[in-house]
Amino acid sequence: MAAKKRIGILTSGGDCAGLNAVIRSVVHRAAGQGWEVLGIREGTQGLLDRPARTQALDLQTVDGAMMRQGGTILGTTNRGDPFAYPMPDGSVKDRSDEIIAGYRELGLDALIGIGGDGSFAILRKLAQKGGINLVGVPKTIDNDLGATELSVGFDTAVGVAVEALDRLQPTAASHQRVMVLEVMGRDAGHIALAAGIAGGADVILIPEVSYSVERIAAKIQEVRSTGRNFALVVVSEAVRTLEGSGIKKALQGGEKRYGGIGDYIGELIADATGAETRVTVLGHVQRGSPPSPRDRLVASAFGVHAVDLIAEGRFDRMVAWSNRGVIDVPIEEAIRKYACVELDSALVRTARGLGISLGD
Ligand code: F6P
Repeated sequence: MAAKKRIGILTSGGDCAGLNAVIRSVVHRAAGQGWEVLGIREGTQGLLDRPARTQALDLQTVDGAMMRQGGTILGTTNRGDPFAYPMPDGSVKDRSDEIIAGYRELGLDALIGIGGDGSFAILRKLAQKGGINLVGVPKTIDNDLGATELSVGFDTAVGVAVEALDRLQPTAASHQRVMVLEVMGRDAGHIALAAGIAGGADVILIPEVSYSVERIAAKIQEVRSTGRNFALVVVSEAVRTLEGSGIKKALQGGEKRYGGIGDYIGELIADATGAETRVTVLGHVQRGSPPSPRDRLVASAFGVHAVDLIAEGRFDRMVAWSNRGVIDVPIEEAIRKYACVELDSALVRTARGLGISLGD
């Protein structure tokens, strides 16, 4: 048995289904070796506050209900870069040393960060500066991290989008409508592509493929010519307008997020085809639900492997899904290149093979 250790764990960036399943798995694996696990509240913010905000995690905490719960029991945040931390007076300050001090004060031997590319870039910088023994677990509904086939949360998000299409189809058919579904995914079309195929879409628009209104309209006319009176269109949130810009909404504090391309595409389709068109924006529904069995499995496997990496003293590595199993890769490799949809990938070929229009 390895020497007793105290490991910290935090969730960072946007939440998704399966985070609690990772935490549960880490606690089980660590407890099996007699190690202590300390949950850090709200990402790195918990290490910034004094006293540091933590939550002891043991086998009692992570009972049978926890794996089923969406969200994260530790809380998370997708703002507050500690290297450029927004202060109340409007200035920005480098507070990275405070986080490193927080890690030391808690007497942590290692830190498991469950995050996406943005979080990993920050955590890695902190780790390099402060000698933090970091292990990463990939999570994001967008599935846009490199070096892993799957990130926790993606499968559940796809499932939610497919369920939405299953619900839209009967109402589309009843009213002879074109239904447009806008899904999340940031700058990658993975959710749209997977959900569109599994949900029987006629058109799937993703940011990686340029579309023309004529091609979309032609597909809808083709569907009509077969006698079918409805069509399903899936649009990824980062799809561009005809002028080439993404549509974003301003949030409080000046931040911007994708949102609104569904309405834009819906109008184009209505104008070009005369079809009665309705738009549904799925939004954060994709992030919150009990994780799918697949996400529970991936999360559980990742949690065990993350603890094993610590036992082996192998840091600055991210657990990853590859070829039916778990491997580990340098975190740097996962964030080096943004993993959007490859145009020669199996799913793009599948969509085309099924006669689904990608708008091009
Ligand atoms: O990265 C996950 C994600 O859900 C994206 O798909 C989406 O663009 C973004 O986060 C939404 O961010 P927020 O939760 O800040 O609105």
